[in-house]
Amino acid sequence: MPETVDLMLLGAGQLVTCRSGEKGPRRGKNLADPGLVKDGALAVSDGRIIAAGTEDEVRMAIAGSEVVSTIYADGRVVMPGWVDPHTHAVFAGYRADEYEARIRGDSYLEIDGRGGGIKRSVRELRETGEDRLFEISRRRILKMLEQGVTTIEIKSGYGLDLESEMKQLRVIGRLAAGTPLDVVATFMGAHHKPPGEKDGGKYVDILIGEMIPAVADAGLARYIDVFCEKGVFDVDETRRILEAGARYGFGLKVHSDEIYALGGTELAVEMGAVSVEHLTNVTPAGIAALSGSPTIAVLLPSTSFGLASRHYAPAREMIDSDVAVALSTDFNPGSAPSHSMPLAVSIACSQMGMVPAEAIVAATFNAACAVGMENEVGSLEADKKADFVIYDVEDYREIPSRAGENHAVVVVKEGSVVWELHGYRERSEVGL
Ligand code: NIG
Ligand code: FE
Repeated sequence: MPETVDLMLLGAGQLVTCRSGEKGPRRGKNLADPGLVKDGALAVSDGRIIAAGTEDEVRMAIAGSEVVSTIYADGRVVMPGWVDPHTHAVFAGYRADEYEARIRGDSYLEIDGRGGGIKRSVRELRETGEDRLFEISRRRILKMLEQGVTTIEIKSGYGLDLESEMKQLRVIGRLAAGTPLDVVATFMGAHHKPPGEKDGGKYVDILIGEMIPAVADAGLARYIDVFCEKGVFDVDETRRILEAGARYGFGLKVHSDEIYALGGTELAVEMGAVSVEHLTNVTPAGIAALSGSPTIAVLLPSTSFGLASRHYAPAREMIDSDVAVALSTDFNPGSAPSHSMPLAVSIACSQMGMVPAEAIVAATFNAACAVGMENEVGSLEADKKADFVIYDVEDYREIPSRAGENHAVVVVKEGSVVWELHGYRERSEVGL
């Protein structure tokens, strides 16, 4: 034990550790174990957890060390920071008119066909200067931090030419350096064919021949992602792009089965992708491919919700089929303009049949697996980053059930309080 403990957390009515004895993502029945500790405590040194457990266990573990500061949770719930493993958080402006159009009956692909959707966000991002893009995105992700998100993946893909994709990736890099969050960058030049591009096949050649090598050279992304969808990139194009990405050392991700199931899920599993994302229309063959495989199924309940759809990914069937399931917001200006992880978790519970513990583990530990960060974040256990959140509730199931307000009151990232709700004790029902 170190001589000094920088931070102690005491009095967690429920410490939801999300830890597991096993390696790799949680699946099947194990997904429903939140690793709950009553009267929990944490000890932190140099930004890392050095002990987690009951107050007695933690006090015993650090006996003899000097404690520099203490936070008292006073019976509240303490959980790991959310890991949001799929976002498009760097964009110029929202597309709220398209939300209304969808409610009135237009489909996502119809809106895309008339120049809206991703193409519109591409035009807007190209016209926005890098510094402004950085500042609006910084403010956005700081609001996510206030809801307890401490790690976020952000994809490029609103540039669709080398210069604009690099601008977006540089902004993602600046967010990593300029905010408390851990930021994982994904190159998604294959988010759409560029607007006005007559020969879409040529763009795949440009992606493979110029853009992927340039992004790799600049060291601006850890993963590469492809939108495998009817009218976007077909399975052969997806394979070629992923193969090129793998040659340049990127981890692989695929947006698949969002609207049409083309076979992108099976391809992703075959190629050892870290994750397949969306899966709203996954087929039995896709589920069979994912069953028992290390490829994580990242489900995006807020996208169905934002698309004004009643159709959700079959989470229950996937969990019961031994698929490793994670949850994410898909935060973007069009299909999923909510950046709230608690809302995504809530929708996953009420609309996709996940029990609260499953949804919470899927949005923390399994989400960390989906961005290759499972040894660093996603659970409260010794040696991991001290990323935790105090919620003003007595039972963790209140977080999804009492949807529509932010229950986070203290957010700690790597052992430092990075956000606190002013005067929350005076306004709280807990412990009265
Ligand atoms: O994950 N499906 C493709 N890409 C995004 C949508 C982005 C947008 O509508 O701007 C998604 O939902
Ligand atoms: Fe997406």
